[in-house]
Amino acid sequence: MSVKVLVTGGAGYIGSHVVKLLGERGYEVLTYDNLSTGHEWAVLYGKLVVGDLADRNMLRKVFEEFRPEAVMHFAAHIVVPESIRKPLKYYSNNVANTINLLEVMEEFGVDKFIFSSSAAVYGVPEEIPVSESAPLRPINPYGETKATVERILKDLSRSGKGFRYVSLRYFNVAGADPEGKIGFAYPNPTHLIIRAVKAAKGDLRRLEIYGTDYPTPDGTCIRDYIHVTDLAEAHIMALEFLLDGGQSEVFNCGYGHGHSVKEVIDTVKRVTGRDFSVVETPRREGDPPILVADSCKIKDRLGWEPKYDDLGFIVRTAWEWELKGLVV
Ligand code: UFG
Repeated sequence: MSVKVLVTGGAGYIGSHVVKLLGERGYEVLTYDNLSTGHEWAVLYGKLVVGDLADRNMLRKVFEEFRPEAVMHFAAHIVVPESIRKPLKYYSNNVANTINLLEVMEEFGVDKFIFSSSAAVYGVPEEIPVSESAPLRPINPYGETKATVERILKDLSRSGKGFRYVSLRYFNVAGADPEGKIGFAYPNPTHLIIRAVKAAKGDLRRLEIYGTDYPTPDGTCIRDYIHVTDLAEAHIMALEFLLDGGQSEVFNCGYGHGHSVKEVIDTVKRVTGRDFSVVETPRREGDPPILVADSCKIKDRLGWEPKYDDLGFIVRTAWEWELKGLVV
């Protein structure tokens, strides 16, 4: 009998890549997604139930029928500037709805949980690369919601009921399925690599660089870009770790080195073979100058070995996906 995994947000960008890998590895998957930003076509394996995490009765029905052994929780709002304007929307979906899910899990005795956290929990770290032991000091409501859920998970794992979790703190997730079946497909993307490939395609008139006066070698921000399939693999390893009896853990998911905004733009121009207009604008609010993961812990403890640690490859998969024109 294959292991049953309930995946919330499995129709979204990262969730769909994990569902694909779970399906390929023989897990039985059920995606629970309200399709607010996800797509039915992105769910390549298992059943899709269209439902909202606010709807506890619907969730109960799914748990009753599917009887999952573990839950992976991707469903969340993710746009930092929007979280500043609409904090209640973020706390309600990212925190209150996660509590709904955890309560239903408890009702049905499901005690293994994998959580999509973010480097946003660190805010502006004092040390780079930042390790998991750094203090949680988010600088926006989005990051606060992720840090709040992490605190809830910690308390729950200490409550004596056997609940165990892995929280994965994502750095800058990018790229698309190397087989080209799925990729990023949200309207109005804010992320650099997506915007840059859209500029290369001609869908954006120009690309803006938000700030060239940062304390970095070329003055632009440095980020740790990680290919979405390497991140998906980290989820499978986290799941296997919990299934093998591993205790609750928090892991950074990044490569441990970064690229500046200018390096990313140069790479996009090289890989796509297209030039596009780039303008320098003032800083965007809330951007830490450098965000790079200390990724030793996940490599040591889970044996995670990234396969696609190559900015050119990340950009190429994002570009090939963009050329398919499936993006809404
Ligand atoms: N950038 C530009 N121009 C653009 C888009 C982005 O110059 O058109 C710059 C940003 O200012 C930043 C870098 O490119 O310096 C990367 O920006 P992204 O928006 O791609 O990603 P972020 O680093 O802002 O976001 C990531 C995650 C978030 C998380 C955040 C924590 O995607 O989920 O890190 O800081 F909250």
